[in-house]
Amino acid sequence: MKFILTGGRALEGSMDVSGAKNAVLPIMAAAMLTSDEVVLEDVPDLLDVTTMRRVLETMGARITRTGSALRIQAPTVPSAEAPYDLITKMRASIVIMGPILRRAGYIRIPPPGGCAIGSRPINWHLKGLEALGARISMDHGFLDARAERLRGARIYLDFPSVGATENIMMAAVCAEGTTVLENAAQEPEIVDLANFLNEMGGRIRGAGTNVVQIQGVSSLRGATHSIIPDRIEAGSFILMAAACGGDVLVRNVIPAHLRPLLAKLQEMGVSFCEKDDGIRVWGEGRLRAVDIKTQTHPGFPTDLQAPALALLTRARGTSVITETVFENRFMHVEELRRMGADIRVDGRSAILRGQENLSAATVTASDLRAGAALVLAALTAEGVSEIRNIYHIDRGYEGMEAKLRGLGADIRRVPAAEQPENDIPAPGAAERGNKLCLLPR
Ligand code: EPZ
Repeated sequence: MKFILTGGRALEGSMDVSGAKNAVLPIMAAAMLTSDEVVLEDVPDLLDVTTMRRVLETMGARITRTGSALRIQAPTVPSAEAPYDLITKMRASIVIMGPILRRAGYIRIPPPGGCAIGSRPINWHLKGLEALGARISMDHGFLDARAERLRGARIYLDFPSVGATENIMMAAVCAEGTTVLENAAQEPEIVDLANFLNEMGGRIRGAGTNVVQIQGVSSLRGATHSIIPDRIEAGSFILMAAACGGDVLVRNVIPAHLRPLLAKLQEMGVSFCEKDDGIRVWGEGRLRAVDIKTQTHPGFPTDLQAPALALLTRARGTSVITETVFENRFMHVEELRRMGADIRVDGRSAILRGQENLSAATVTASDLRAGAALVLAALTAEGVSEIRNIYHIDRGYEGMEAKLRGLGADIRRVPAAEQPENDIPAPGAAERGNKLCLLPR
């Protein structure tokens, strides 16, 4: 599938942010820690949620969805064999290690592998689980982890890894004794997970700071939990509104989760204000260049680096964007250059000189946040753009095109093979046997 998008329009109206992908994925895994039923509300309809659901069902969970509510129950000890094709498809599924180790005492799982934005090792996950008593070895390409019992420990993370913090929290919540996790990740999604575990009977304190204390309890019970709003989806739409001009209310937002972005918008000269039910952004889309350096929370989020960079192509002056969290998260730069952006990458930094408008083009998404950046760029470019591989976007943005159409954007989703009547076939499409693209022989 791909998006066909005609840019150059201001955005007007309001949209509702969905539940947070990066909160619901570990919380779904945490549901495996009890044999009681868990009810999760405000669960977004995303490809990654579907993948996590299939992982948990393969391992024995019963899951039903009613609207935006998910019911999960793992009544018996879950299977310890993690499905290879699903785990390697979505790195986030590695967080099932903690819960399954606790429930089954054993898990056999393939290392999740890398992706477009980096090699994505899991050494800090494994170091934390071993500190809690797990014995982990590599066997024929699978990680073999055993833990007859998990005991509390003092663990220091070399880097405040989000996933490692989540995995360790979920392994420690029912361990014998107390765990102190230092240099823990502080993202809002960590706090949402800790709140959920405490609603299940856990005793976790300090989530959201760099020291988390987990007092092990003997068992956890079912709970009902509403997932926090997705601050990255909210930030992406705020950046799109700032880029296009107009007047947009982004609803269902927790402003405290967006402080680093809002501070940068102020520096850029974007007009916005915090309302009771969201963030209102208005203006005519003219901006000042700024420098951005991604950091772990509460710094500027790496997940907003790509859309922010796309916005800055419209700013007067030169901006420098430095990516400190992932080693290869500038895949969107080459695609933006095809739209006329003046950007060069030098190591961990992208240097870009702003200009009036980008030009429409056919571009390809490499990961979900790069996809959001390309949509933002196409919204501002005069003419018809085509954005391919939008399954990346569907992994983390619920109904993006419907939400944008609700704001007046001219965007539609078409099968990748379909060539709209006025569209120039993508280079090489004929060779790929694209039946609708009849290039003159
Ligand atoms: C989570 O990934 C998010 N994913 C990412 O969002 C987000 O970009 C990232 O945190 C940082 O905020 C989910 O929550 C599902 P990390 P995670 O462990 O947990 C390295 C999106 O777009 N590292 O904090 O994988 C790692 O390679 C996604 O929604 C190790 O070296 O991030 C990376 O360079 C993308 N060893 C850095 O640390 C480890 O054991 C941060 O990774 C673990 C991580």
